[in-house]
Amino acid sequence: MRQARAAQLRTTTAVITVLILAGTAAACGKASSSGSKGITIGIALPNKSLDRYVIEGNAMVKQFAAKGYKADLRYGNNDINAQISQIHNMIALGDKVLLISAIDGESLGEVLLEARDAHVKVIAYDRLILGSRDVSCYASFDNYKVGQLQAQYIVDKLRLKKGKGPFNMELFAGSPDDNNTQYFFNGSLDILQPYIDNGQLVIGSGQKRLSQVNTLNWDGAIAGARMKDLLATSYNSERLDAILSPDDAISQGIIATLKAFGYGTLAKPFPVITGQDAEAASVKSIIAGEQSETVYKDTRKLAGVAVQMSVDILNGRKPQINDTKQYDNGNGVVPSYLLPPVSVDKSNYKRELLDSGYLTAAELK
Ligand code: GAL
Repeated sequence: MRQARAAQLRTTTAVITVLILAGTAAACGKASSSGSKGITIGIALPNKSLDRYVIEGNAMVKQFAAKGYKADLRYGNNDINAQISQIHNMIALGDKVLLISAIDGESLGEVLLEARDAHVKVIAYDRLILGSRDVSCYASFDNYKVGQLQAQYIVDKLRLKKGKGPFNMELFAGSPDDNNTQYFFNGSLDILQPYIDNGQLVIGSGQKRLSQVNTLNWDGAIAGARMKDLLATSYNSERLDAILSPDDAISQGIIATLKAFGYGTLAKPFPVITGQDAEAASVKSIIAGEQSETVYKDTRKLAGVAVQMSVDILNGRKPQINDTKQYDNGNGVVPSYLLPPVSVDKSNYKRELLDSGYLTAAELK
């Protein structure tokens, strides 16, 4: 996969150069906001298919505008080369700070060298950029804690502390090119491992390593296809009791397959299934008794942290940092600001998601 990507990258770099020379500024979807300071901040987000990125993208544009800055917001459509080309373009247009949520954490080193030459500062947004010296700081959530919350939900629901079991469980993880994936997985496994070791949790497929359970691009369809294999091979007579799922898109892909295999009935209830991002579709699914849980991360707050970091950097101030240990990108620890995630299920979604205005009642209809 990496080789194919490298080849793709080379072709795209050539194309991008041509595009930049041809001056494609008009085609770039520049956010329209009038900035009194005439300074533009580039924002590169992975995709528009998850609500979260739309919510935080809009929040950042608004917050920058309120502070008198312009924002240049682009979505990469989960396409690494498209994202690199967007970043090239932002640098060519003179954006002064780049907020980047990498599609592939390892593929931005080269384009960030360009940023350095152009004196453009880079902030890793939500996902750490790896192998580059040119990352000033990192704004995210406590990703290890996200994994812990998901696993703890399973532990509580199955009453493992009380010694219940054995239960059948399967593990799913996020995209292997996203640095967050291992933090979620490690956070979860640190909680689940003792119960796997003592036999209260049985992984029927035997697939326990991150390399066996990851899901490229956080793609629900890929997860659904893996779920199908697992059910067909390991659960002909046994029932599945729990699924560790790292995010809502993956949970929904898994649930579609579970339904096709007859889950969701009195005789065969859905397993406990976790998630992340409080996507409207998943919250509806939680209300309907399908998905069990999601981890809510108030991305409007993350937007606020990233905007403030940008403004501080632009004004020569040191951004506020609350973690200087967890996130080493291969070139040293990147100073980070991490926000707390919140576990949400049927019992607290109204308070956490509706009362806070993160989602509207209409979005959950
Ligand atoms: C992760 C992010 C999650 C989720 C996932 C899928 O990097 O931390 O919140 O959005 O990507 O895009």
